Amino acid sequence: MAKSLSYTCTACGASFSKWSGRCDACGEWNTIVEEKPLSAGPSAKSLGAKRGARVPLHDLSTQEAPPPRNQSDLKELDRVLGGGLVNASAVLVGGDPGIGKSTLLLQAAAKFAARGTRTVYVSGEEASAQVRLRAQRLGLADSPVKLASETNLRDILTTLEAEKPDLAIIDSIQTMWLDNVESAPGSVSQVRASAHELTTFAKRTGTAVILVGHVTKEGQIAGPRVVEHMVDTVLYFEGERGHQFRILRAVKNRFGPADEIGVFEMTGKGLAEVANPSALFLSERGEPAPGSAVFAGIEGTRPVLCEFQALVAPSPHSQSRRSVLGWDGGRLAMILAVLEARCGIPFTGLDVYLNVAGGIKISEPAADLAVAAALLSAREDAALPADCVVFGEISLSGALRPASQTENRLKEAQKLGFTSAMVPSGGKTGTGAGLSLRQMGDLTGFVGEVFGAG
Ligand code: TYD
Ligand code: MG
Repeated sequence: MAKSLSYTCTACGASFSKWSGRCDACGEWNTIVEEKPLSAGPSAKSLGAKRGARVPLHDLSTQEAPPPRNQSDLKELDRVLGGGLVNASAVLVGGDPGIGKSTLLLQAAAKFAARGTRTVYVSGEEASAQVRLRAQRLGLADSPVKLASETNLRDILTTLEAEKPDLAIIDSIQTMWLDNVESAPGSVSQVRASAHELTTFAKRTGTAVILVGHVTKEGQIAGPRVVEHMVDTVLYFEGERGHQFRILRAVKNRFGPADEIGVFEMTGKGLAEVANPSALFLSERGEPAPGSAVFAGIEGTRPVLCEFQALVAPSPHSQSRRSVLGWDGGRLAMILAVLEARCGIPFTGLDVYLNVAGGIKISEPAADLAVAAALLSAREDAALPADCVVFGEISLSGALRPASQTENRLKEAQKLGFTSAMVPSGGKTGTGAGLSLRQMGDLTGFVGEVFGAG
């Protein structure tokens, strides 16, 4: 008989046959806990003896209408959902505690309800009075959203069965508990079982269900990743505490494109939509300064301009520092290595700090060239031209690869008043959107073009 896997990582949900201090799957420490099996479950033998019913099989060619969608009127949210909320779907909204998930969902609930979507908001974290107070502060007190403060999922499901709403919001999944699961609320078993009940409820009744999940660093509370595979859509709400920008990012979507982002701004009156994120991300930019490079990126279907800032300083320690915010540290190491090996520009003995302004996280390889430009500009203490955007991927050989959707990036730059762009040669620049283009084939060419001989 196969050994049962009874240890689970609360951060990523991976299962193991024995305990260890560090999860091999995600690398987190102290997140592995023992999990009690849900039920004995039918063994292979009894499965053979008791036959199930036949399920109908269909052709792939069966015509299916596109799923009907409910729009919230919050355009940033609707776009991330792939054009609106699909009936009978289950959506997970994850994010750090205090980032604004409850605020976003209360505002969304009010918007949906205002358009005739019957909406129930169940808070397991706050008393109804607290939620009402927040609603008042957000100016939503008159909204026809139905409110409950409850954590007993059996009672919640009975209520939802009776009310038959179009949308149910469960804030948060970690506070819900089922009486037939023995472990405490927030444990992997409870969170999984509760999410399973809620997603099956959604499929069975047609109610769309939105689950809130806190990202946790504590081992005993399961994070949203353990239920990602159960839901149709996974959105993460991210941002830096000190910044007012919040980004809602689709990381999985069965009904639309993943990687789509919605941009919000946290204000005293809740979250405001940001229709033009590029203007916002660049709004803090002053006079051209050494170490600053403007990157023309694509997030989902939308071009987004943002600023990379680098600082390079002699290191007082034998081991120099590499510090990155908003970008991948491994990728930074790669670019530093390529600059050294292919262009002969060393960064040894220098501390390097890299930061994406505004608290947005960039994961596109097309940002490589903007990073290199910021690093070089900081090292040479020479500002790049103020009206210039940069993008392109750098390969290990030092060659520059054109980025996807070059023309869209250039158009966005032109819209925001930029007049020139430094891009890899060979990209589909189209008309170039009226920008003056400086194209180069490799990183050495780029260094020569921008900083003389380097
Ligand atoms: P909240 O939605 O409670 O976060 P989460 O549900 O993700 O834990 O947001 C809490 C933070 O948002 C809190 O620090 C205060 C801030 N906030 C505002 O700045 N303006 C507002 O109008 C509201 C309601 C909250
Ligand atoms: Mg909350």
